[in-house]
Amino acid sequence: MNVTAHPTDSPHKRLFLLNRARPTAGTVARIEELEADWIGPLLARLTERTEPLAARAEWLTCLDELLTHERAGSPAGSYLAEKATREEFTHVVREFALDGLTEAQNFFPAIPRLPLRAQMAVMRVLIDEFGCGNQRQAHSQLYLDLLAELGLPQDLESFLDTTGEGTYQFLNVFYWLTQRAEDIAYFLGALAYLEASIPDAFRVQARACERLGIANGRYYTEHLHIDTFHMREMQLAIKECEAAGGIDPTRLWIGAQLLSELIGGAFEAAVNRAREAV
Ligand SMILES: [Fe+2]
Ligand SMILES: [Fe+2]
Repeated sequence: MNVTAHPTDSPHKRLFLLNRARPTAGTVARIEELEADWIGPLLARLTERTEPLAARAEWLTCLDELLTHERAGSPAGSYLAEKATREEFTHVVREFALDGLTEAQNFFPAIPRLPLRAQMAVMRVLIDEFGCGNQRQAHSQLYLDLLAELGLPQDLESFLDTTGEGTYQFLNVFYWLTQRAEDIAYFLGALAYLEASIPDAFRVQARACERLGIANGRYYTEHLHIDTFHMREMQLAIKECEAAGGIDPTRLWIGAQLLSELIGGAFEAAVNRAREAV
């Protein structure tokens, strides 16, 4: 992508473009400034409201409670699954195109920050995200197939001006989690949550595709299947970190809550915007 951030762009669009630019000292300084105004207060609020956890088992209980709570679904999810028109669904697909087209790319900087055995578990997740090296199976390719069927563009640049700030936050948080968060536990907690939540969350989009007769819904159905393995790999990665020198369970839990808030907010905003636009 050869687009540079412009001062008139929204802060999160600017941050996204900077995150994908060559990381010169100047670029990184601007990223850190934008993140300080955003992630700093977000993290402080979550840290303040989170009771410290004593052990990994407590983190698992907290995560389980959050997933159970979210499994009940949301009005936005029910609408998208059962009522949205093809045009409204297309808007939501457009909204998450930057995510689908750059899927898992921003996880790589986490690898050198992990002990070797944890690296292997996260690498197994990454290998799947990239279709085990087979382009036809790569998650970004599955998203391209969906975009094509819905008559949407195939290049990142076309989505830069239609993506909402909430979605940009969800994208940008991973660049922070993997590269600048002081403890990699935040990333592990966030990704463990995401992989564990998708097998329930994507039922909504899979159902919408089925109902609307969209043939290229495989992006969603593939995740219903593969993320049941990815959630286990992420728990294994966390266990390996613990064995190799310890892991902060409170920070795992803060990472999960951070991502839950951002993805939940982005999804609801996307459905609302789709309904307003159509
Ligand atoms: Fe994926
Ligand atoms: Fe996954």
